[in-house]
Amino acid sequence: PEAITVQELANRMAEKGADLVKALFNMGMMVTVNQTIDQDTAELLVEEFGHNITRVSESDVDISTEEDVDPEETLKPRPPVVTIMGHVDHGKTSLLDALRGANVTKGEAGGITQHIGAYQITTKGKEKQKVTFLDTPGHEAFTQMRQRGANVTDIVVLVVAADDGIMPQTIEAINHTKAAGVPMIVAINKCDKPEANPQKVRERLLEHEVIVEAMSGDVQDVEVSAKTGAGLDDLLEKILLQAELMELKANPERFAEATVVEAQLDKGRGPVATVLVNRGTLKRGDTFVVGTESGRVRALIDDHGKQVKEAGPATPVEVLGLGGVPQAGDMLTVVENEQRAREVAQYRQEKATEKRTALAPTNFDTMFNTSD
Ligand code: GTP
Ligand code: MG
Repeated sequence: PEAITVQELANRMAEKGADLVKALFNMGMMVTVNQTIDQDTAELLVEEFGHNITRVSESDVDISTEEDVDPEETLKPRPPVVTIMGHVDHGKTSLLDALRGANVTKGEAGGITQHIGAYQITTKGKEKQKVTFLDTPGHEAFTQMRQRGANVTDIVVLVVAADDGIMPQTIEAINHTKAAGVPMIVAINKCDKPEANPQKVRERLLEHEVIVEAMSGDVQDVEVSAKTGAGLDDLLEKILLQAELMELKANPERFAEATVVEAQLDKGRGPVATVLVNRGTLKRGDTFVVGTESGRVRALIDDHGKQVKEAGPATPVEVLGLGGVPQAGDMLTVVENEQRAREVAQYRQEKATEKRTALAPTNFDTMFNTSD
């Protein structure tokens, strides 16, 4: 059963917190307005004050996505989401640039990636398969998303520079990948350099229990050069092979659910979130809830900076029209109308406040010295 603070209950009943405390005192309970009471007590109080009780369960008010499973026949293949991880300067962004035929690295301040880049490429072969890539600065974003229960990554590409070898953030990336239980492909980069020693990288990986194919293990590895483009087709092929084994699918024909990859307040455009659609199709004009905010999709911008009308599963897209800045890992959920969006957002805001209140220290424990 749900617990509620006395103050929160008072707010809902439009009564004074102190009056509730008094009533509780008369019922033999010594509590402060910041303390929580159980549902039965709350109901007693509500009756005492002559209000009607409507017991609402969380799933009536909030959106539960777990229970809402798409039937098998609605599922369609979707592109894999690949996160690129590795030590600073090992060539993550360069590798992505080379794969996309773009040049993001050049525009970066000091050549350091500051925010997550989310891109989609289409393979050149006749099948024209799509692959979504996330370029992560450090690994905080990956960890943050995982901590919030959002596992958007299907495959990790671990980039290790062949001239520099295994470095602290390489190890960190290995640990994150293992903790997430996501398959890894090792891209040994900068193989064009005379001092490159890819074999040493493979050997050193053994110490971290990453056994690549060349060492009779089952982790795919590939020697590449973002500079010359050597091995890139091979890398893509390995990604697609891994993805095929995973049979990644999603229902594109439903209200969209998307994960916030990053968000910020843009001077000119207001709150902007980069999201990755998990399932369904996100459309311009859609009403949604994200975290404790509601909003309406004012514009969708793809990874080429172009406005698009919609974005399907595994597509990264920038969303404009948010009520506030959400957090990485928050789920954006499209709902049927604005009223529903506001209702859910408000409910979540109340819950968030409740949680803060419940966590706030009540001087109660310090009032009585219980140590003996
Ligand atoms: P952070 O975003 O700061 O973590 O770095 P990053 O991993 O994205 O590395 P980035 O792509 O910015 O590359 C770092 C440097 O290595 C740049 O000067 C690149 O030009 C260089 N570089 C990347 N790949 C290669 C390669 O295959 N060969 C050579 N010779 N240089 C490369
Ligand atoms: Mg980078």
